[in-house]
Amino acid sequence: MLELKGVCTYYGNIQALWDVNLTINQGEIVTLVGANGAGKSTTLMSICGAAALRRGEILFEGQPIHTMRPDKIVRLGISQVPEGRLIFPDMTVQENLDLGAYLRRDTRNIARDQEMIFDMFPILAKRRTQAGGTLSGGEQQMLAISRALMAKPRLLLLDEPSLGLAPIIIRQIFDIIRQVNKEGMTVFLVEQNANQALRVANRGYVMETGRITLSGPSDELMANPEVRKAYLGV
Ligand SMILES: Nc1ncnc2c1ncn2[C@@H]1O[C@H](COP(=O)(O)OP(=O)(O)O)[C@@H](O)[C@H]1O
Ligand SMILES: [Mg+2]
Repeated sequence: MLELKGVCTYYGNIQALWDVNLTINQGEIVTLVGANGAGKSTTLMSICGAAALRRGEILFEGQPIHTMRPDKIVRLGISQVPEGRLIFPDMTVQENLDLGAYLRRDTRNIARDQEMIFDMFPILAKRRTQAGGTLSGGEQQMLAISRALMAKPRLLLLDEPSLGLAPIIIRQIFDIIRQVNKEGMTVFLVEQNANQALRVANRGYVMETGRITLSGPSDELMANPEVRKAYLGV
């Protein structure tokens, strides 16, 4: 579904990604794990069209997207939940959700999809008319995910959804990731929290200083002594 081939991304003269190769098949949950500063967000920005590639290519369903504008990439069916849950704090929960759906053409299904989201996150239905900024951190993450889901993407990109959240909320967020995947959405999950991420994902990639250093099925990575030592703390 998505293929990164030899991707090199720079910030000015500083190279952040070095020859990154990565594949995501339809229906999978794939995770990219790595320490702070490894290049995980840069990988997502490269996919979304927010960071220009200097070399390499990115194909979505066989079509090159690395030269496309970000809004065109969204229209193709790729939505990102950015790091730090960037919701609009002065807009209500409802308005934040409406924004997620603004590029959709199948407008008659929007209300139904919103009901599905309120079933998944009942707290958002309760907070519908509240300003986004008044929600707790966990609720804001739920809203950020819901806003991305309102775009009805085929590929959902999540940048550290568990960052800074309490264990019980993290569990809830990861349950939702499983659920939307079961319903057919392909998920690319970027996480420092390798333990949780590898548990939910089918396959994983490990990134260090802008390079993919390991990849494989999640259970193989979880059994790998290097991964256990460096990322799982065992
Ligand atoms: N806007 C930017 N300008 C310059 N360097 C950046 C910028 N964003 C990230 N970097 C650098 O690129 C590298 C990768 O960062 P990032 O992709 O954010 O890592 P991660 O998401 O894995 O924590 C880091 O060395 C970081 O300092
Ligand atoms: Mg990051």
